[in-house]
Formats: sequence, structure tokens, C-alpha cells
Amino acid sequence: MAWSAIGKVRQRLDANVFKTLRLGRRYWDVELSNISDDKNYKGRIFVYDQNLLDNIHKGIGLVLLGDYRTGKTSIGSWLLKRVYEEGGTSLFVRYDEITSSVLEKTGFSDRETLYQRMVGVDLLMIDDVGTGNMNDLVKGMFEMVCRKRYDNSKSTILTTNYPEKAFSQIVGAGLYKMLRSTCDFIICDGEWK
Ligand SMILES: Nc1ncnc2c1ncn2[C@@H]1O[C@H](COP(=O)(O)OP(=O)(O)OP(=O)(O)O)[C@@H](O)[C@H]1O
Ligand SMILES: [Mg+2]
Repeated sequence: MAWSAIGKVRQRLDANVFKTLRLGRRYWDVELSNISDDKNYKGRIFVYDQNLLDNIHKGIGLVLLGDYRTGKTSIGSWLLKRVYEEGGTSLFVRYDEITSSVLEKTGFSDRETLYQRMVGVDLLMIDDVGTGNMNDLVKGMFEMVCRKRYDNSKSTILTTNYPEKAFSQIVGAGLYKMLRSTCDFIICDGEWK
């Protein structure tokens, strides 16, 4: 496994860093403390956050399921920021951009393609699993990234608007089992106000 500085140094976030994380402007300022107390999933998110370094070292990820506007992308974005601040590497990608980035060998830096970065970072978030054009190629590319990360004990955060049963059908039985064994599944409900 590649050496990671996570937990060993502190790094400061700025606009250039947010671009490296591929984090959209809307999510630069999100805070976990903004989650209101009436959200019953708040406790489990806080526990994951409190044990973040340990979770990353063990390769434990998150699957955030819930309706539109329930804060899933914001929660994942916060955790990507935290990992960077703790000296690690993190990256945001949308489910519907994985396939084209692999096929077109989209660059990340002069040394890495986006695919290599997706596989290599300490924490990857794949946002909106199951949205956009879904076919066997798209599902296969998504599975390849998830399995590569699993093989190297790397944590991945997935968000989806689908309930768990539909999500399991989208990702397929084998991958679902793998995710169930390495990710906390948290249902985010109640619209964000
Ligand atoms: N932790 C947070 N801190 C600050 N704002 C938040 C937070 N969580 C949610 N919000 C606000 O609620 C809105 C919806 O949140 P977000 O986009 O994260 O939801 P989502 O569940 O990912 O939605 P979708 O299913 O549409 O992708 C955001 O635009 C943001 O303004
Ligand atoms: Mg979202």
C-alpha cells in the first residue's frame, strides 16, 4: 500500500486545495455541527467522524442513503476536508463521471490520471450512485474502482438517493456484500432546512 501521511501532519485548506479535492464551491464551507439535533442519523455520523483516522486505517467507509436534500453530499464533503486537514489525500467524484474519466484517461496531474487518483487516495467519495445513464459499462467501471480500493483496504464514501434494496440491485449482489462488510450504512432522512 502507498505510504500515507494521514494523522502525521496538519494541512490547511484553501481554494486551490478544494480544486485538488474536486469539491464544488457549494460544499467548501460545510460543517458537521450544522446538522440539527432532530436528525436521528446525527449521532452515527459524529461517531464515524470522531473515529475518522481509525476508520481510514481500517478501510471502513460509509454508504449514505436518503432522499434529495438530506445533507448526504455535505456530510461526505466534510469528511473529505477532514482527511486532507489530517495530512491525508481525498477526492470527490460523481458516479456519472467515472466511466468517461477511465475511458478518456482524464488527467489529474502531470503524474497521475484521475482513475489512478480515485484508486489511490485515502478517502474517495463517489456521489449519487445510480444517477444518470446506467448500463453494464458504467456499473462495471464503478465496481472496478470500489474493488480496487477494497483490495488495498481503502475507505470509500458512497451517497445515493435510492433505498437500500434498490441500491443493492444497482450495485449487484457481490459488490453489495463487500460494501456491507466494509461500510457503515446510514439512512439520512428529513429534508435539510
Ligand atoms: N452539514 C451541513 N452544513 C451546511 N449546510 C448543509 C449541511 N448539510 C446540508 N446542508 C444544506 O442543505 C442543502 C442540501 O444538502 P446536500 O446537497 O448535502 O444534500 P443531498 O442529500 O446530497 O442532496 P441530493 O440528494 O439532492 O444530492 C445544501 O445545499 C446545504 O445548503
Ligand atoms: Mg447530493
